[in-house]
Amino acid sequence: MKQHLNFDWQFIKGFSSNYVSEIPNDVRGVDIPHNITEFPFNNFSDIHHQIVGTYFKKFDIIDYDPESSYVLAFDGVMVSCNVFINGKDLGEFSHGYLPFEIDVSDYIKPLANLLVVKVDGREDNKIPPWGNVVDYLSFAGIYREVALKRVLPLDIIDARVDGKLDGTVVVRPEFINNNNSAFSVEYQVYDDKNQLVASAKFPRFKVENHHVWSLENPYLYRLKIVVTSIDDHYQSSREFTLAFRSIEVRNTGFYLNNRYLKLVGLNRHETYPFIGGAASKSLQADDVKILKQLGLNYVRCSHYPPSPHFLDACDRLGLLVVDEVPGWQHIGDREWQKVHLDNISRMIKRDYNHPSIFAWSIRINESMDHHELYTRGQELAKSLDQYRPTTGTRNIKNSEIIEDIYSYNDFSHFGKNKGLEAKKQVTKTSKPYIVSECNGHMYPTKVYDSPQRQLEFAHRHLAVLNSAFKDLDIIGISPWCMHDYYTHSQFGSGDHICYHGILDIYRNKKLVADVYLSQLVKEDILASSFSLNNGDIPEAKLMPFFVFSNAEQVHLFRGDDLIKKYQPRRDLYRYLKHPPFVIDYFIRENFTEKYGRFGRNSKKRLGKILNYAALNGLNQLKISHKISLGFIMFRYRLNYQNLVEIWGDNVSSWGSDGGVFTLKAYNREGQLMKTRQIGPSSHYQYQVDIDKSTLINGASYDTVKVNILALDSNDMRSPYDFSPVKISVDGPIRILGPDVQSLHGGALSIYIASKNIQGSAHLMLTINDKIYKFDIKVK
Ligand code: GAL
Repeated sequence: MKQHLNFDWQFIKGFSSNYVSEIPNDVRGVDIPHNITEFPFNNFSDIHHQIVGTYFKKFDIIDYDPESSYVLAFDGVMVSCNVFINGKDLGEFSHGYLPFEIDVSDYIKPLANLLVVKVDGREDNKIPPWGNVVDYLSFAGIYREVALKRVLPLDIIDARVDGKLDGTVVVRPEFINNNNSAFSVEYQVYDDKNQLVASAKFPRFKVENHHVWSLENPYLYRLKIVVTSIDDHYQSSREFTLAFRSIEVRNTGFYLNNRYLKLVGLNRHETYPFIGGAASKSLQADDVKILKQLGLNYVRCSHYPPSPHFLDACDRLGLLVVDEVPGWQHIGDREWQKVHLDNISRMIKRDYNHPSIFAWSIRINESMDHHELYTRGQELAKSLDQYRPTTGTRNIKNSEIIEDIYSYNDFSHFGKNKGLEAKKQVTKTSKPYIVSECNGHMYPTKVYDSPQRQLEFAHRHLAVLNSAFKDLDIIGISPWCMHDYYTHSQFGSGDHICYHGILDIYRNKKLVADVYLSQLVKEDILASSFSLNNGDIPEAKLMPFFVFSNAEQVHLFRGDDLIKKYQPRRDLYRYLKHPPFVIDYFIRENFTEKYGRFGRNSKKRLGKILNYAALNGLNQLKISHKISLGFIMFRYRLNYQNLVEIWGDNVSSWGSDGGVFTLKAYNREGQLMKTRQIGPSSHYQYQVDIDKSTLINGASYDTVKVNILALDSNDMRSPYDFSPVKISVDGPIRILGPDVQSLHGGALSIYIASKNIQGSAHLMLTINDKIYKFDIKVK
């Protein structure tokens, strides 16, 4: 039984020995998950969060039972902590990303317990990932949940549960039996409607007519283990996730339930604006939804085991996972290495029952070979999990491969070469090969960077995907990375953010996200890499740009006039299912109509000259262009004024209203799938969406997310909107972050958390004098 201890803690910065038994006066109330210090959006010092703080929690034990033992369970405290209960020092714990438990039976009482946790947020070179520089922040604080577990003298401590594709269930339970009682066990399986569908006395049994877990239908069962002493004195039960599926990683590919699947994913850090890594269950689940919406089938948890809520959501929503031990390039001394091995074992023990996990990444990310350490790591992982393959990420070629999958961070692409190296250029191994990272620092791009940069960013993602789809030896690819993230001063853009994401730090889409959508989702996609606002292009020229779509053809219009019917550019990205359309011709088909009948060739030639000037500037016209122009003017009696008109109608949008273009996407059957306008915006608007209106307090607080998107009149994100948003709340809710936040490149997500009180609350946002009000209920 678990008593959650997440609400109503007290917190103070610093530590003093008298805090151990007495709460000082100037504490403030906090709930867990909590970050030891709030982050500004950017521009903070490296040691901003590397401070000491003390947390206090008073609690009574619900239904205290003197016969039971009590264990304090911490899901994650960063970096290290000293735990005291009722004045007793329980020791120091430095597990960072992984859980730890402390038996407190001898020190607690039924009422008025005082739990004090001194948290030291300073990076600790004795444990991974530290010892050298690291391109991410670990944050600090009690950032994952805390509970008091009651353990009966006869109880279930844990179980490893495997559901096979044919419906077989294999359970390896761990019991505690302090009094050596004779006992019986029952294994009960409940379906997603809470109906009992199987029960057994032995830990290997079969469920008939079972549903298989897949990415489209991630069907989960619950396995309930009930243990009862023969004299009926003790009975206890515990529930575990159960799913039926098979995973197989061959050098020819990845197979889920015997079906081939090209793995396409992203790397994910657990970084959230303002709150660091202290995210609620719903925010964690939200990331999984977003990855699924992008059409991805897997995620690499770079570079540490994520929140259990994230993994639960991967199970529930159907997203495959590579779970990874903490580490970044550096391998420390023997003591440090012991912690690494301990991390492998804590990770596998914690996460074994997640059907979504298909591999354990057990090397330190991008470290050098270390035969002894990695042999021990492999043996350890295999002793804990005989089914799942292991991997470990390298950035070195021909590295010793002890694990089951060779993962390689391939940063060879620089925009002009092919996207990825061939497997045989990296390793001679016949083991499966995965590209665990690519792109990232090779071309960081902010949402408000220029259209040229957005285009290049998109091209680089298209290029790596193209290579990955081409090469059957590459069983999967996870480009770097899902979203922009907080980092140390040695990395990033000088403001402590790495702008490597497909999404910004709030998980709002950059233009490049459309690359993924157009390749991977079933819905109709029609997106443009350029808004056709010419102020960003030198000389107000036009530029060739990409349209991302899963259509068969895209037609470009200016006003109602057709310009050109475009085909996907298979010649550029041959292995993509939906190569982009390259829009590089802007002159209307009927542009000469007003001036009498033109010969086909003359019209074509004049169109080309105009388009050339549109893309390169008038003063770049070549002699041959000028001669042709003179000839055409003479032949069709065009005067200078006519030319200026043609130019104004077809090319120049500088100072004219005519620069609005329309894209129409057609499917294979020639039916219109989607229409989109691009061009100068006549007005702007804010799209303000709240993801739910009821917050449900459970083990801890719940959060809502309000997404604000500044859109131009063509429904494209307005990337230069940095307006401030004033946020005010009343009732049992609080803002996670400051009460004035600004849009970043036309988007902002605001997180609101519930307090430990039920009732009605209100949220009010003011953006440029417009007020948005939301009623929220806390249950
Ligand atoms: C890799 C590293 C990642 C990140 C990335 C940026 O070398 O594994 O953590 O730093 O580079 O591109």
